Amino acid sequence: MKHVTTVVGATGLLGGAVCKQLRAAGLPARAMVRPTSEPGRVERLEAAGVEVRQGDLKARSSLDALCEGARAVISTATSTRSRQAGDSIQSVDLEGQLALVEAARHTGVEHFVFVSFAPLQGNFPLQEAKRAVEQALMRSGIPRYTILQPTYFTEIWLSPALGFDFLNAQARIHGTGHGRLNWISVEDVARFAVGALGRPRAWNAVLQLGGEEALGQLDVVRLFEQRSGCQWKLEHIPEQALREQFNGATDPLQRSLVALMLNVALGGPVDPRPAMEVMALRPSRVRDYVERVLAEQPMGLLV
Ligand SMILES: NC(=O)c1ccc[n+]([C@@H]2O[C@H](COP(=O)([O-])OP(=O)(O)OC[C@H]3O[C@@H](n4cnc5c(N)ncnc54)[C@H](OP(=O)(O)O)[C@@H]3O)[C@@H](O)[C@H]2O)c1
Repeated sequence: MKHVTTVVGATGLLGGAVCKQLRAAGLPARAMVRPTSEPGRVERLEAAGVEVRQGDLKARSSLDALCEGARAVISTATSTRSRQAGDSIQSVDLEGQLALVEAARHTGVEHFVFVSFAPLQGNFPLQEAKRAVEQALMRSGIPRYTILQPTYFTEIWLSPALGFDFLNAQARIHGTGHGRLNWISVEDVARFAVGALGRPRAWNAVLQLGGEEALGQLDVVRLFEQRSGCQWKLEHIPEQALREQFNGATDPLQRSLVALMLNVALGGPVDPRPAMEVMALRPSRVRDYVERVLAEQPMGLLV
């Protein structure tokens, strides 16, 4: 009997959370990993009872084997942060995801959950790839699809890795810092992805995911300042500078990353309530994230 869910992107931030939640719900999970995937992440999947199989979105035959016998596929993969030779937006986010949809159809997968992102301003390769895969999935003939369109992840965009350095009370602010976004936690996106499998109202649906509160980067700085008592040092990247970088970028990844930053500057709230209603789920708040990351610093802030 088909019952396993195949997760593509399982060694990533969101895919790892999806696997953990599938296993916590007692559901069998199969993960695609690559010979180059970080060994610690593969070990954590195995320790959680996930069946690990080698594959690559660029190798069509591996995709058929991965989908064979699976009832559902959840794809969170992207080449934007985790890149190996030959990986690009074209080869992975577009052609690889299209090949995965085709492999899922060919092998009789019943439900395909695709993690895209909420519509953003501007034409750029990552957005074009996401929209093309959404369209192909909707037309694929796979009996059920769920397209999730989350906004910006708190754990990525409000983290030191992207210049939101709560450890040192300093931040790189895009534009004025007043552009409002419904930041969402990775764990919440995983809850929506796993929840969609058993929720008929989430089938054949496109769901925009975001936190309930739309906040500018400066609002989040204020939350950190209030909670920690430290005043932050801010560096602003003017919107005009981001526009110039965007217009001058010829590399598809670079153009896409600048477009994402420019959209942080511009802001663009979404209405998260329809998805919350369909899924009967309520995302956590940015202030919960602030509490969590500050509590995780045993020595307090480093400033
Ligand atoms: N970051 C945000 O704010 C945001 C917002 C909305 C939507 N999203 C979307 O959310 C999804 C998950 O993001 P994330 O942060 O979890 O990504 P991530 O941590 O960078 O993980 C990417 C995953 O994709 C896999 N991958 C890359 N190239 C591959 C290939 N050729 N074949 C097979 N697997 C490949 C990686 O595998 P290896 O470990 O083997 O490299 C890894 O498991 C993405 O689709 C992203 O577009 C992100």
